[in-house]
Amino acid sequence: MHLERIRGVESRRLEGKKIVLGVTGSIAAVECVKLARELARRGAEVFAVMSEAAQKIIHPYALEFATGNRVVTEITGMIEHVNYLGKDGFADLYLIAPATANTISKIANGIDDTPVTTFATAALGSGKPMLIAPAMHAAMIENKAVKENIEKLKKMGVEFIEPKFAEEKAKFPDIEKICLHVERKLYSKEFLGKKVLVTAGPTYEQIDPVRFISNRSSGLMGKEIALELWRRGAEVVLVSSKDFGIDLPNFREVHVWSVRDMLNAVLEEIKGCDLFVSSAAPADFEVEMRDKKIKTAPELVLKLKEAPKIIKEVRRVYGGHIVGFKAETGLSDEELAKIAKERLEADKLAMVVANDVLERGMGTEETRVVVVTARRTQWLEGRKSLVAQKIVEIYVEDLL
Ligand SMILES: Cc1cc2nc3c(=O)[nH]c(=O)nc-3n(C[C@H](O)[C@H](O)[C@H](O)COP(=O)(O)O)c2cc1C
Repeated sequence: MHLERIRGVESRRLEGKKIVLGVTGSIAAVECVKLARELARRGAEVFAVMSEAAQKIIHPYALEFATGNRVVTEITGMIEHVNYLGKDGFADLYLIAPATANTISKIANGIDDTPVTTFATAALGSGKPMLIAPAMHAAMIENKAVKENIEKLKKMGVEFIEPKFAEEKAKFPDIEKICLHVERKLYSKEFLGKKVLVTAGPTYEQIDPVRFISNRSSGLMGKEIALELWRRGAEVVLVSSKDFGIDLPNFREVHVWSVRDMLNAVLEEIKGCDLFVSSAAPADFEVEMRDKKIKTAPELVLKLKEAPKIIKEVRRVYGGHIVGFKAETGLSDEELAKIAKERLEADKLAMVVANDVLERGMGTEETRVVVVTARRTQWLEGRKSLVAQKIVEIYVEDLL
């Protein structure tokens, strides 16, 4: 079947999961074809149910194509709502995206007169997890009755995905953001109630007011580790010179520039943290900065001084687990693993992730790393998102 060609190509995070996608009569219904396929790319099987108003915006054939399954457009003698989302229903999650003001308000008040709301009644009664992504004009979401209905559903355990507020609308969230919420809802929760601090990306050491020294780190590895910890329930603080624009609850980005800024931010944020993942590539040297832009000259001599070591400074005030990263160049696998092991012991780290950045790693989508804990030395290779997933899995297995 055509869908099998895309299932799981992005990741296997939703493999084996059956998601019911409820679609209602918002113009954002045009996005749900892409959403269904993105969920499939992460391994899920998707089943769609549509309200009558939704069918006036997109044809059920579009969702039949996108999911590879028959679309429920009415409740029949097959009692689809019970089969999908009843106590013994086969589905793992009910995601209503987009959800209109009408559908939200009906569900909050126990009314079900459309296939989407009848599915919700079954899901709420059977305790199946529910996620709702509202989409509507600002005037509708600011309506007191709609607001109260959202609050009522939250109290009943339904989770809402924050819309994007722009152009006087509560717009449909990015599909990536919806997928992350789905993954977190269906994932293991090892980090629930835990706070983690992650650093990512390079730092910038100013030479004069307009120039700086930096490195090729993109921050992607740290970002992916932060997201993986979030999926598993953690409250995340991500300290980075890069602005990733991550808009998730319990996820905060702190922006820094130089290695000093990064150190100060980390020391400020480390209080109350259960884990520090130091995946940034901060400068090893600070520059004695000139006040004015340096003029062109045949030669320029800059004075560099050793920068503070963030992990060492953190160790003075923080007794919890630290995961360190080490970037080297031109080493054999054995040498790299040996250096990682030495670092594990010397800095009393829980885990070290080391890679040869001449090979791959800095500024690339893919990487090859060696992970060292007290219990293992393991090589990982592939897209950074998947390597990050594996690194967190190793942490959970060896250190939680
Ligand atoms: C083109 C179009 C776009 C609409 N967009 C929205 C919307 O974004 N959000 C919303 O709450 N209602 C929107 N509506 C109104 C709903 O379709 C209407 O309230 C309908 O009764 C919802 O039924 P349902 O919740 O069963 O799908 C729109 C209607 C039309 C015709």
